[in-house]
Amino acid sequence: MSERVFNFSAGPGCLPESVLKQAQRDLWDIDGSGVGILEHSHRGKVVDKVFDEAQADCRALAGIPENYKVMFLTGGASAQFYMLPMSFLKKDQTADYINTGVWSTKAIKDAKRYGGAHVAASSEDRNFCYIPKADAIRWSGSPRYAHFTSNNTIFGTQWRAEPRAPEGVPLICDASSDIFSKPIDVTKYALIYAGAQKNLGPAGATLVIAREDFIEQGSEDIPELLQYRTYAANDSRANTPPVFAVYMVGLVFKWILEQGGLDAMRAHNEAKAKPLYDYLDGSSFFNATADADSRSLMNVCFRAPSEELEKAFIAEATKAGFDGLKGHRSVGGMRASIYNAFPPEGVVRLVEFMEKFEKRHG
Ligand SMILES: Cc1ncc(COP(=O)(O)O)c(C=O)c1O
Repeated sequence: MSERVFNFSAGPGCLPESVLKQAQRDLWDIDGSGVGILEHSHRGKVVDKVFDEAQADCRALAGIPENYKVMFLTGGASAQFYMLPMSFLKKDQTADYINTGVWSTKAIKDAKRYGGAHVAASSEDRNFCYIPKADAIRWSGSPRYAHFTSNNTIFGTQWRAEPRAPEGVPLICDASSDIFSKPIDVTKYALIYAGAQKNLGPAGATLVIAREDFIEQGSEDIPELLQYRTYAANDSRANTPPVFAVYMVGLVFKWILEQGGLDAMRAHNEAKAKPLYDYLDGSSFFNATADADSRSLMNVCFRAPSEELEKAFIAEATKAGFDGLKGHRSVGGMRASIYNAFPPEGVVRLVEFMEKFEKRHG
């Protein structure tokens, strides 16, 4: 078998080694059933257990209260960009969005198809390199809901704490790229969604955690599979769900629990990102693109003095076993995505590699 490299991909991202090894075994035969996980009926006992445990572990991890539903949907996080306003926003209503990057912009665009979308704050003026301060947020009169993106995968910025929506306004979060990287107080939200493929598992499942009374407020005039209540009432199995993706997410939940839960994840992620940011702060060659108070612990974006040097850096890094470092075209440069499952050793080794590159080219 070939060697695995350090995978800095922004998503799908790397998965815990123990999870991949368990999946290898269960692909052939899960729970001694003589049938692999990919081949089981979604109505059978084996898959019942997979779904029950995934939900229970998710609740245990994030301390999710009884009046919230944990659901697994399809269509990626992008499907939530339309599913949310389709359910909750009417033509004569306005939803408030904080625009902190490409994904928020797409969510706003979809919301406008169903009603009004007011941009309560934006960091577009400086190419989304910061998170707007609380006093820069201008909510509209009485928004139907308030939406923000907790971690901006492309620009490498992350909210330190959720924005405070006006009293009584349902708060919605796209947490696709930092879900369960730190503790989360679910009770502050009406609905949280996250594509699985960064911190939770493979592409194909989207985790949605939503308050029951909010789910019930959703429109009933849209197709059943676009209503959250359908997933809530049918244990996410109204039709054939992405069983394998949910199974993987379930294994990742167990892995996070084994690591000590979300407090441990936060400590682990803070310690992991530190050597890279410290090095970037001291370097006169590389520089971090996000403002210091807005930096993401998940996606570290940085640049070198010229595009030629960046190209050379990425090529040499790839050869040396550091994969997926090319930044998104809207920022340029490099991006090191270091999600929950990314090993700390990979960051230390990358910093050593950067130091040597800087010595040669600086
Ligand atoms: C913050 C955020 N939201 C939404 C998306 C879109 O996710 P998907 O490709 O699952 O639709 C991404 C993808 O990277 C993302 O990072």
